Amino acid sequence: MNSVLYLTCSPRGALSFSRRLGDELLARLSALHPGLRVAAHDLADAPPPWIDAAFSAAILSPLALTPPAALAASEALIAALEAADALVIATPMHNYGVPAVLKAWVDQIVRINRTFRSTPAGKVGLLADRPAYLVVASGGWFTGPSPAGTPAQPDFLTGYIRAALATIGITSLHVIALEGVTRGAEQADLAVTRARAEITRLLG
Ligand SMILES: Cc1cc2nc3c(=O)[nH]c(=O)nc-3n(C[C@H](O)[C@H](O)[C@H](O)COP(=O)(O)O)c2cc1C
Repeated sequence: MNSVLYLTCSPRGALSFSRRLGDELLARLSALHPGLRVAAHDLADAPPPWIDAAFSAAILSPLALTPPAALAASEALIAALEAADALVIATPMHNYGVPAVLKAWVDQIVRINRTFRSTPAGKVGLLADRPAYLVVASGGWFTGPSPAGTPAQPDFLTGYIRAALATIGITSLHVIALEGVTRGAEQADLAVTRARAEITRLLG
């Protein structure tokens, strides 16, 4: 592994739990792979553009007929992903799903006839598989009930990112969850300890 694309999605800067554990995961990867190049993109700070009419028309038009500007942002984001041997996404859960900035990134990089093809057998990814890590911080619990027995929240985040990345060919996704981080210092510490243990299990 020579390079990694590191996406952060929290608007909370240094206070962000997902960024903190994402940084720790990056440090572990860097120790395992000396000289690892990290391309960091803070999506909260520099969000991808929303899908507009020009993009919607361009993805279904022959490339020769497409104004290059319509797909310029998409091309740059896809190129950054293609250039990376691994992908790390550190994100909060917002309303059971991905933050809008991460959805905007997905919409730019999951592109028909560029990163996947549509076939009678279904969508076929065009990117080589590579290790991907998803660090998710949530105020409550979604992998199971809370310690107090409150039922698990819906989770439209991890399954969505798994499906979106699989569509383009990236199927080696590992999820590291930080749950209950807004439920007091004790729960937050426990979440960090568990996430660290999971990183150690995955990377040694
Ligand atoms: C707009 C918004 C929506 C949120 N929705 C959820 C949610 O659906 N479930 C949950 O457990 N926490 C929710 N939270 C809490 C965040 O997931 C939590 O604060 C988490 O720490 C944010 O990650 P960060 O520390 O990396 O910023 C929400 C927070 C915000 C600001």
